[in-house]
Amino acid sequence: MDDANSMSKTDSPRWLLYGATGYTGVLVAERAVELGYPPILAGRNADLLKPLAARLGLEYRAFPLDDVNEIARQIADVQIVYHAAGPFIHTSDPMIRACLATRVHYLDITGELAVFENTFRYDDAARKIGIALISGVGFDVIPTESLAYYVAAQVPGAQHLELALRAFGLRVSAGTLKSFMEMLPQGAQVRRQGRLESQPLGAGARRFVFAEGEEPTPALPISWGDLITAYRSTGVPNITVYLASPTLVIALARIGGPAISLALCSGVLRRAAGRLIDAVARGPSASKRQSDHVVILASASDATGTRKTARLVMPEGYQFTAWVALPVILRTLELRPVGALTPVMAFGPDFVLEIEGVQRQDDVAWV
Ligand SMILES: NC(=O)c1ccc[n+]([C@@H]2O[C@H](COP(=O)([O-])OP(=O)(O)OC[C@H]3O[C@@H](n4cnc5c(N)ncnc54)[C@H](OP(=O)(O)O)[C@@H]3O)[C@@H](O)[C@H]2O)c1
Repeated sequence: MDDANSMSKTDSPRWLLYGATGYTGVLVAERAVELGYPPILAGRNADLLKPLAARLGLEYRAFPLDDVNEIARQIADVQIVYHAAGPFIHTSDPMIRACLATRVHYLDITGELAVFENTFRYDDAARKIGIALISGVGFDVIPTESLAYYVAAQVPGAQHLELALRAFGLRVSAGTLKSFMEMLPQGAQVRRQGRLESQPLGAGARRFVFAEGEEPTPALPISWGDLITAYRSTGVPNITVYLASPTLVIALARIGGPAISLALCSGVLRRAAGRLIDAVARGPSASKRQSDHVVILASASDATGTRKTARLVMPEGYQFTAWVALPVILRTLELRPVGALTPVMAFGPDFVLEIEGVQRQDDVAWV
């Protein structure tokens, strides 16, 4: 957090926070105001933006994302767009094209694999005009990619990368659930010999010891951003990311997963599920954000069995996303990375350690 604290308010960048009225957008806006780096709030709904802007004493701009020229007009006077409106599969591309048209840096907090891939398609265009396009500057994927890179760098020629997360309570935001749902028709993805492959949900579950002295905890493969980002930054051809889950959830995923994936191929059912999610999903409370923490394990290994492992202990995911937003914005303006980059390519694998409450430990038990 040093960067954010050491800059005076007069150095504050002109940055626009799109999706400011969402669960995560509000957290990012509040944190930025607290640190003295006020954003311009933006989103598609003026009725929601107006009271938020009044409460935080900020400027706001209401515009939808269906016209790239209009987006470009709205962002032309800022240095950076921090995009927090998702699912990003519906929102990222027009904002990237507007950023390219106006030479404005683009950051987002997606975790959606197709969105990372789309961002990388604009690498040449971003290099030509000298801006950064960085997807995944939240909990997904800064800490996981950082740890993946850290272990992979110590195993030259690593062939396998495994990440395991113990995260998420019962309460996640509507946006997170809807973004997850967008990926469900593909099942759970893994990377094998450099290619993305789909597995049925619940397949390939295994156990991990997340803390010393604990019993191994079951975890199932999930489609996590590092299947794209850690592959791009480390080049390791086989990657699996696991999420710790109760045995019952894994069993239900095995039984019902294929049917759920199939059902969600239908746009009508996806929209109906989205409305249900909007009605019931609330992100974690402030006290849960403060009390919960996340554990991430990583292992890189080569064909001879040489293995390097490490663990990251860090704040709750939404809390982390809000806390890391300002450091990411300030570091982008300081380092001026160019092109479509992963967070590690832009800021390095140790950047995550600058965030309050993040600790990395070497050599953990691997069962
Ligand atoms: N990388 C990470 O670790 C991380 C952390 C947190 C969140 N996220 C992602 O960030 C996104 C937002 O999450 P959230 O927790 O803030 O969810 P949320 O509370 O549901 O908020 C979603 C926000 O996006 C806006 N939005 C959605 N679709 C839009 C569209 N087509 N055009 C314009 N605005 C649109 C919504 O505006 P309306 O109110 O007008 O609908 C709202 O402001 C999700 O994709 C989530 O997965 C990622």
